[in-house]
Amino acid sequence: MIKKTLDEKAFQLLKEKMEQGLFPQWVLTDPDIYELEIDKIFGHTWQFLAHETELKDSGSYVTRWMVNDPVLLVKNRKGEIKGYLNSCTHRGTQLCTADHGNKKNFTCPYHGWSYNLDGELIGIVAGNKVYGEEMDKSEWGLREIPQVASYQGMIFGCLDPAAMPLEEYLGDMKWYFDILLGRSDGGMEVRGLPQRWVAKANWKATAENFAADPYHVQTTHRSTVELGISPEDPLYAGYGHQIVTENGHGINVITSKTGKARVPYQGTPDSMWPMFKKNLTPEQDEILSGVTVFVGGVYPNLSFVSPIHGTEGHLHNYLNFRMWRPIGPEKVEVWCWFLIDKAAPEEYKEAAYRGYLGSFGPTGTLEQDDTETWARIVEVSKGLMMRDKELNYNNVSNYLMGFDRVEPDESFPGPGIAYPTTYLDAISRSMHENWFKLISKDLFVKEAVK
Ligand code: FES
Ligand code: FE
Repeated sequence: MIKKTLDEKAFQLLKEKMEQGLFPQWVLTDPDIYELEIDKIFGHTWQFLAHETELKDSGSYVTRWMVNDPVLLVKNRKGEIKGYLNSCTHRGTQLCTADHGNKKNFTCPYHGWSYNLDGELIGIVAGNKVYGEEMDKSEWGLREIPQVASYQGMIFGCLDPAAMPLEEYLGDMKWYFDILLGRSDGGMEVRGLPQRWVAKANWKATAENFAADPYHVQTTHRSTVELGISPEDPLYAGYGHQIVTENGHGINVITSKTGKARVPYQGTPDSMWPMFKKNLTPEQDEILSGVTVFVGGVYPNLSFVSPIHGTEGHLHNYLNFRMWRPIGPEKVEVWCWFLIDKAAPEEYKEAAYRGYLGSFGPTGTLEQDDTETWARIVEVSKGLMMRDKELNYNNVSNYLMGFDRVEPDESFPGPGIAYPTTYLDAISRSMHENWFKLISKDLFVKEAVK
């Protein structure tokens, strides 16, 4: 039995279990584990903040969160994206309280200190009288987020100044982001504001559900089959490839049963196809022309899905990015972005946006299905018997539903380890192995030295 403590013995036991593909259920919602995750995972990995089209002009800003750290993301006069801790240096209150906007400078609502777009303290109310000459304003600028970087317009932040650069962290996932975000001239743009809401869920379960689990689709979203939107075939979300890349990231390239396109280029207007071909390599074009759904994740808490949506004759495609912000072991704040090709016709963009609102997002039918399951997982995970109950992640290179052993498909045109089905635990295992590697780093160093 695994004890619900964080001593070294318990961790060794946890390690052994995980090497067998078994994940103890208490780990999902344990408060001590949660504290470790905040420090050791979210304190050192890259987290998604915004898309560059949310910050169009000098002075544009958005406010975001990296778990508990408030972030003020600003475009300065030089056109650079800067990230600051959104907390006044005087008494610490939240400096900017709006979600987004455009400002020349930021004035604190408490005592009125002002900061410019470069985070410098430029104004103190009655400064000369209250502080005299000794106050050196240059020492009281806003704290910068240690690392802010972007790839294909996606802006990420990292709280660890020593962490590897973003592009190295993304690794082979960049090749797939080039398809999703770089296929069109001008890239993608965010439409509307990111929607957000709170769900009863653990971040590990929500991240896994999107990044690694097409297997749930045929049951959880059964209503889409009953409505005639999805096929009856229970394997329908399993055709295609599941690809494991570095650092716990992964992507599922779901196709039709034949491996051929259900509709070419995900139902995008055919006028856009030559542009896709021009901007992609032949291998990337081969994948995009035949895919039905891309769904995957960047560890720890960014997920994305790019589906075909609608009915014959009115098909469209969009890209949904979502960030799972943990706000406790049993709660996530979901942040949900709609992205579309900047170069797409306006009426197509609008139709795709309406399709997105009806499927994902807080009022979407698919979203409701998943949200209910996530809540039920946390509700049952705290019981005494959960301490030695393990979840099965053994479906990796093992026998799949009585078929042949699943081995990587060397002929897949993209990078990473590609398995020829998406009903597989390969990405889940990689996420959980990465989880364990990160939370146990330096944990028992002192004991080991003795
Ligand atoms: Fe911001 Fe005092 S807390 S000016
Ligand atoms: Fe789902």
